Amino acid sequence: MTILVTGGAGYIGSHTSILLIEAGYDIIVFDNFSNASHESIKRVEKIVGQSITLIEGDIRNRTDLENVFSSYSIDAVIHFAGLKAVGESVEKPLSYYDNNIYGTMVLCEIMSKHNCKSIVFSSSATVYGDPHTTPIKEDFPLSATNPYGRSKLFIEEMLRDLHISDSSWKIVLLRYFNPVGAHSSGTIGEDPNGIPNNLMPFIAQTAVGKRSYLSIFGDDYDTHDGTGVRDYIHVMDLADGHVKALNIIKNLSKVMTINLGTGTGYSVLDMVKAFEKASGKKVPYQIAPRRAGDVAKCFADPSYAKKILGWEAKKGIVQMCEDSWRWQANNPDGYKGKSI
Ligand code: NAD
Ligand code: UFG
Repeated sequence: MTILVTGGAGYIGSHTSILLIEAGYDIIVFDNFSNASHESIKRVEKIVGQSITLIEGDIRNRTDLENVFSSYSIDAVIHFAGLKAVGESVEKPLSYYDNNIYGTMVLCEIMSKHNCKSIVFSSSATVYGDPHTTPIKEDFPLSATNPYGRSKLFIEEMLRDLHISDSSWKIVLLRYFNPVGAHSSGTIGEDPNGIPNNLMPFIAQTAVGKRSYLSIFGDDYDTHDGTGVRDYIHVMDLADGHVKALNIIKNLSKVMTINLGTGTGYSVLDMVKAFEKASGKKVPYQIAPRRAGDVAKCFADPSYAKKILGWEAKKGIVQMCEDSWRWQANNPDGYKGKSI
């Protein structure tokens, strides 16, 4: 089976590509490298011991996609490509609607034309907005507080409409909680551009000495220690969720919406302590005001993923921190450091 992996050079796509190849799939990575480097794919090739078909192109460009679909017989698409920075989406909403929504429209149009109608889409826990309670189940009310989140909500709706119009589409919407960690080799990982927005890369860069301290956004939330609680999930567990989604996609008769989380919430301070233990380094921090748009607690009820996919997260907080540290310590400048 041949799988097109859009955004396959990025953080989650590169880790998923490894498991897809190990599971025996042929893959084609399609990426415009707006937030990725060729080095990640070189390193994935080293891990799996084979070369990868890599196409540089943009999902918004019909010709780029036409070329791929007319050159290869593609059975399914795992669609990671898109922009993902919440703050940037507030400043540049049109870029987010263009890349994420319009890009997905073009992708689906070309898929349909080539009779490839199976897609696994990267959605996000952000579609739950400010959840009224936790753990979060898939049927909770949906809302969005920023253009990034709205783009995910719109795409989910668009894919549901597509299925209503043509039930031969097979669609899995995977709602990720907070992906962290790295492949155990320490050769691939998350490589944010500039100052990280997300907690884990910020902690890792502080531990390695690139940042002087972590700002903890708020210590007066209604949580066990006052800091925000999230469901951190190891990126290799997340990757495995995609392989499991492909196992069931052929037989789907309805759009499947599935949370990928561990079901356990950790606070910012829990993460700092776990990272200090895993790395043997101090992570200095200061308490700062709450960040606009943050919720107190967000963690999944992952029981539907277990029931439908036979999937559950296996790696805990220790492994998340150890693997994240191995990647950061070996690659303090990410993929911009020396080539391997
Ligand atoms: P990433 O930025 O590392 O990967 C996205 C990849 O898509 C990059 O390689 C980028 O170059 C590529 N890309 C962007 N726009 C493109 C376009 N128009 N055409 C072709 N390629 C394009 O991000 P990631 O963390 O790996 O996230 C993957 C997906 O998962 C995204 O859709 C993201 O919104 C979603 N997601 C991520 C998180 C997270 O915290 N990392 C959480 C929930 C959902
Ligand atoms: N935090 C800090 N300091 C920082 C960064 C984060 O204290 O420098 C705190 C936040 O306030 C929050 C927690 O760490 O309590 C996690 O914050 P992240 O930015 O790492 O993650 P979010 O839960 O805010 O959002 C992430 C992605 C979203 C995605 C969501 C759910 O950025 O795109 O996970 O998948 F939708």
